[in-house]
Amino acid sequence: MAARNEKIGIVGSGLIGRSWAMLFAGVGYQVTIYDIVQQQIDNALADIKQQLQRLEAGGLLRGKLNAEQQYQLIQGSSNLAEMAKGAKLIQECIPERIEMKTKLFEELDKIVDDQVILSSSTSTFKPSLFSEKLKHRDQVIVSHPVNPPYYVPLVEIVPAPWTRADIPAKTKEIMTEIGQAPVVLNREIDGFALNRIQYAILNEAWRLVSDGVLDVKDIDTVMSEGLGMRYAFLGPFETAHLNAEGMKKYCESYSNSIYNTSMTFGPTPRFEGPAAEEISNQLNGICPLDKLQERRAWRDLALTKLSVLKKEMSGDKK
Ligand SMILES: NC(=O)c1ccc[n+]([C@@H]2O[C@H](COP(=O)([O-])OP(=O)(O)OC[C@H]3O[C@@H](n4cnc5c(N)ncnc54)[C@H](O)[C@@H]3O)[C@@H](O)[C@H]2O)c1
Ligand SMILES: *[C@@H]1O[C@H](CO)[C@@H](O)[C@H](O)[C@H]1NC(C)=O
Repeated sequence: MAARNEKIGIVGSGLIGRSWAMLFAGVGYQVTIYDIVQQQIDNALADIKQQLQRLEAGGLLRGKLNAEQQYQLIQGSSNLAEMAKGAKLIQECIPERIEMKTKLFEELDKIVDDQVILSSSTSTFKPSLFSEKLKHRDQVIVSHPVNPPYYVPLVEIVPAPWTRADIPAKTKEIMTEIGQAPVVLNREIDGFALNRIQYAILNEAWRLVSDGVLDVKDIDTVMSEGLGMRYAFLGPFETAHLNAEGMKKYCESYSNSIYNTSMTFGPTPRFEGPAAEEISNQLNGICPLDKLQERRAWRDLALTKLSVLKKEMSGDKK
């Protein structure tokens, strides 16, 4: 695919804005990144250039264009209107503060046309929370990525109650085009889907540690050497389907024991007090705070290799 005459605007040039810029440029979009801090834009462009070169050298560059061609498609701007002009989609990636998001969308509301998709990267705010009063509120949607988006393709697409009917499908099409794996929620809900499931797991992990059943390291082993091995390829439903002679049998065989066990789950914990102290001490022992950056680099490498494997396996599977 060659470069083409379609524009994407990115607002906020931090971690997530940079990833989106690379993903859009990878399939030939003209990308303009806007930020209120000029230095951030300069840093972002330099960082993107370096990341693209490193990915290319490692044979891991996504998209059909080479690193230099992708980089040439990305430009910075300190002018909001210039970023928005002619964009097919504007992806908001500013800090997770509701008053900041509300203010930015009000500014965008004054300068956009009736077509552009106004898409937010927010991980926690339902789209109704920052779009209700806007003239263009029916163009607003959440496209929630997972960190690091270059290696973890899920995007949760979440409409507000007033989002125009064509916007979720159009957003999904664009996310699929850039090689992400979108799911569209039928309605907004706190935590969307990923965090609701993640919180269910975190809550039970927390209870097992604070009830003295396992320590932090062992909990993480249960996931990384157990459940997680399957979950990189299959969700909980297909896992169950394969674990019995089909889901129907699974329900017949395990319904009672799953229900009984689930009834022994304690109340929802609060992540504070002595348990919070103890759990973070254990984690600091496993990975000291000054080693976080190193460990993140390791995580990204592991995810890269996993995504190569997944690509290989999907050729076999479907
Ligand atoms: N980091 C993650 O793991 C992750 C994952 C999924 C979603 N998100 C969401 O993505 C969004 C961005 O997160 P991040 O980690 O990239 O943040 P970040 O702090 O790295 O970057 C935010 C950028 O926005 C800029 N900014 C602040 N106010 C602005 C404004 N009014 N206009 C333009 N630019 C402005 C800042 O200068 C900074 O460059 C948040 O909503 C976050 O919840 C983050
Ligand atoms: C579940 O609990 C009920 C009520 O205590 C009990 O009768 C039943 O045997 C239990 N079933 C399983 C599979 O644990």
